[in-house]
Amino acid sequence: MNEKEKEETYGRIIPPIVEMIKDEKDLITSLSTISCELYHAFEHWNWVGFYRRVDERTLKAGPYQGGHGCLTIDVDRGVCGACVREKSILMISDVSKVESHIACSPETKSEMVLPIIGKMGTVLAVFDLDSTEIGAFDAIDKEFLSGLVDWIRPLYDQFPGRFLEVGQSGEGSNFAI
Ligand code: SME
Repeated sequence: MNEKEKEETYGRIIPPIVEMIKDEKDLITSLSTISCELYHAFEHWNWVGFYRRVDERTLKAGPYQGGHGCLTIDVDRGVCGACVREKSILMISDVSKVESHIACSPETKSEMVLPIIGKMGTVLAVFDLDSTEIGAFDAIDKEFLSGLVDWIRPLYDQFPGRFLEVGQSGEGSNFAI
């Protein structure tokens, strides 16, 4: 897919996604919709979805679309763990060159992860996209997918099942920090 096709695909698919989720208060419904719509829009992607933080050390798969995904990832491991520790977007052009990469599928050649950061600065989830092509992710993906993360963040901040950040009280999956 060349840059023009990629921009056109995002331009076609993002507005309806935003339209679908803009009044949706249920986080899991929104994350499922995003995973589904994106996965089906890009043929060279084989995994699109989220690893939700459920406690200090643990990421859990879902919602997602695609092939097998590791169910649980410790924040010390993998590209997803690095995303949590570094609180930054990572683009892995060739996963075979990254020793820490956790290979859920031999078909995956490149990967991009984006942190979803709560209002107090804690990573609440990792948005993970895998491709069957080397070097599939670039600045265009970063621009459009970051925009989607901006839509997800406020939803996540209100979600009762989120990982509670330091200083937060109330419902949440973690009361220990
Ligand atoms: N490759 C990821 C694991 C998740 S799968 O890609 C779905 C990682 O290294 O953290």
